[in-house]
Amino acid sequence: MSRRAHERLSHREKAVERRDRMLIHDKSSERATIEEVFDQKTRMVIFNLMNDGVIYELNGVVSSGKEARVYWGKNKEGSDIAVKIYLTSSAEFKKGMHKYIEGDPRFKDVKHDTRSLIAVWAQKEFRNLREAEDAKVNVPKPIAVKSNVVVMEFIGENGVNMPSLKEQAPTNPDKVYKTIVTYLKRLYKKAKIVHGDLSEYNIMMWKGKPVVFDVSQSVSIQHPLADFMLKRDIANVNRFFSRLNVKVIPIEELYKLVVGK
Ligand SMILES: Nc1ncnc2c1ncn2[C@@H]1O[C@H](COP(=O)(O)OP(=O)(O)O)[C@@H](O)[C@H]1O
Ligand SMILES: [Mg+2]
Repeated sequence: MSRRAHERLSHREKAVERRDRMLIHDKSSERATIEEVFDQKTRMVIFNLMNDGVIYELNGVVSSGKEARVYWGKNKEGSDIAVKIYLTSSAEFKKGMHKYIEGDPRFKDVKHDTRSLIAVWAQKEFRNLREAEDAKVNVPKPIAVKSNVVVMEFIGENGVNMPSLKEQAPTNPDKVYKTIVTYLKRLYKKAKIVHGDLSEYNIMMWKGKPVVFDVSQSVSIQHPLADFMLKRDIANVNRFFSRLNVKVIPIEELYKLVVGK
């Protein structure tokens, strides 16, 4: 078996195992897990989203990061959804958020307590997803946002999310690179935002095309850090794809291509 096929298999095995583990939980113990992790207000937000019919079922954890957890859930129609819940307890996160919110003309007059900041952060992710989608960049379709919770399309099947490019390199890197270059241009010129954390960690392959996600830190192109963030994104993308032997566009040239008139 090729290394790539092996990697693919082991990712799926792990994901399926994780999914099955989650499904063993009966409803009451799943609820208990959620109650331990989240504060009263967050539980109310999820409860409200359930009452609104946005979330029908909240199943296993897909990812448990420092700042957010991503759950696999289902909507009323039985389709998979991803539910990203920002943790309200991370003090470091709060410090980090400021620099991306301040200076973005879309988010003036923001209150500075942690819960309000995180709500703005979640709003920002939702709005960035929508703006990217409108610019024809392939992203998880945004479904709803409420306080610190963002609901979006689930990238994967039956609770098994697709691996990131980091976990599984694409079989057609030249084509994927070209598509990512197109997405960089569309994000800048049409959506007028810069991703800011673009790398193999935040791109998955789905239905033959790359999907870009994790856009909470993305900023307006008018933000003072936008230029720095764009250059970093370009450098990350070029580094990853040149390792896969793609003839990448030199950084300066690509930068001009993205921002050029
Ligand atoms: N819409 C989605 N569908 C499926 N899996 C997702 C989705 N959004 C995120 N994930 C999974 O959760 C992980 C973390 O999500 P991400 O948005 O990158 O948050 P962060 O990196 O800030 O923790 C991703 O690497 C991916 O595996
Ligand atoms: Mg990420």
